[in-house]
Amino acid sequence: MNTTNPFLLKGYRDASLFCDREDETQLLITNAKNGANTILYSIRRMGKTGLIYHVFSQMNKEKKWNTIYIDIYATQNIEELTNQIASAILQTFPEKETLGKKFMTLIKGLSPSISYNEISGIPEIAFNYNQPKKYESSLKELFNFLDTQNVSVLVAIDEFQQIANYPEKNTEALLRTIFQSLKNVFFIFSGSHKYMLLEMFNSAKRPFFSSASPLFLTNINKEKYATFIEQLFKQHKKQIDEESILFILEWTRVHTYFTQAVCNKTFAISEKKITIKTVYDAVNQILKEQENIFFQYRKLLTASQWKLLKAIAKEEIVYHPTGNAFLSKYKIGSPASAKRSMDALIEKEMVYSLEKPEGSAYLVYDCFLSRWLER
Ligand SMILES: Nc1ncnc2c1ncn2[C@@H]1O[C@H](COP(=O)(O)OP(=O)(O)OP(=O)(O)O)[C@@H](O)[C@H]1O
Ligand SMILES: [Mg+2]
Repeated sequence: MNTTNPFLLKGYRDASLFCDREDETQLLITNAKNGANTILYSIRRMGKTGLIYHVFSQMNKEKKWNTIYIDIYATQNIEELTNQIASAILQTFPEKETLGKKFMTLIKGLSPSISYNEISGIPEIAFNYNQPKKYESSLKELFNFLDTQNVSVLVAIDEFQQIANYPEKNTEALLRTIFQSLKNVFFIFSGSHKYMLLEMFNSAKRPFFSSASPLFLTNINKEKYATFIEQLFKQHKKQIDEESILFILEWTRVHTYFTQAVCNKTFAISEKKITIKTVYDAVNQILKEQENIFFQYRKLLTASQWKLLKAIAKEEIVYHPTGNAFLSKYKIGSPASAKRSMDALIEKEMVYSLEKPEGSAYLVYDCFLSRWLER
């Protein structure tokens, strides 16, 4: 891979490769400094994780602040959550440093096993308790430790909706109790399942009710993205014309990951001068590369779900998926069966809905799949 390609396809490098998000960054920082937790959510691949790292890179410049990133996507229960959190703290405060030494002493008192990842060399902590209750008390100790170090700590828990899937149904209540007692630790709860996260934070019955202020991440401003793209090409001695940039942003619906991917490919295959022809080549190559995945999707869906998906892609955006005009245009069948297919497609995250002034709008989630189906 060409490592000088400035259009990242994962992670975060530095502010120069990061487009805009100034208001969001400011809000997250202001919230933390004023003791407010934030719930950061968006559809997939909009840039939540990147934004967290961007905020962290700014916060880390301040002496008083420490930042800890914890991704809990792969955790299935409270045991794995505890391990993940402990490992993230250890990775943030290496054993060589004072805080790290203190943390190690605490950890050893909790009798864990510590291993080092063979490839990355990163330390991983695992507690093996017989009684589930012990995880709860360890979690409490981990956060109390962070709370009493004479520093402020901003913790981001990414893919936070995952805790709703744990078999331990009291996890939400437990975390809420622990988090509430902290004075120097502040949180960003981030995730993608809009309804799940909203339900978790807005339903009066749930423990996290009104405990965090929401930030819904949407598309980057189109003009700002256009300037960003032009500049990055220019800095690498490549010239891209306006038509090409506008085509990219249109074709990817300014959905961050997809925009990055098309820019990345365009950069990779281009010479010094880029015109629309290069961009067409780039998107064709991407769709070709993804084709096998698209065929897999088809296998996972019923014939009527696939038909509905294709119809949505062809329309690009659908407002009345059970309305007569749409159903008869694509010969989809009855409103009831269309509704069933739609629910399934949303459940499988093949389609997402967007609230617009005109009402709910439906789009194919994966922009590349959408463009491929459209053809
Ligand atoms: N502001 C930005 N400027 C440029 N690239 C960005 C920006 N934000 C995110 N990216 C890039 O876009 C891609 C998707 O971003 P990211 O992984 O942060 O999204 P996400 O919302 O966390 O996705 P998921 O829901 O899948 O976890 C990554 O390649 C990332 O490097
Ligand atoms: Mg993410």
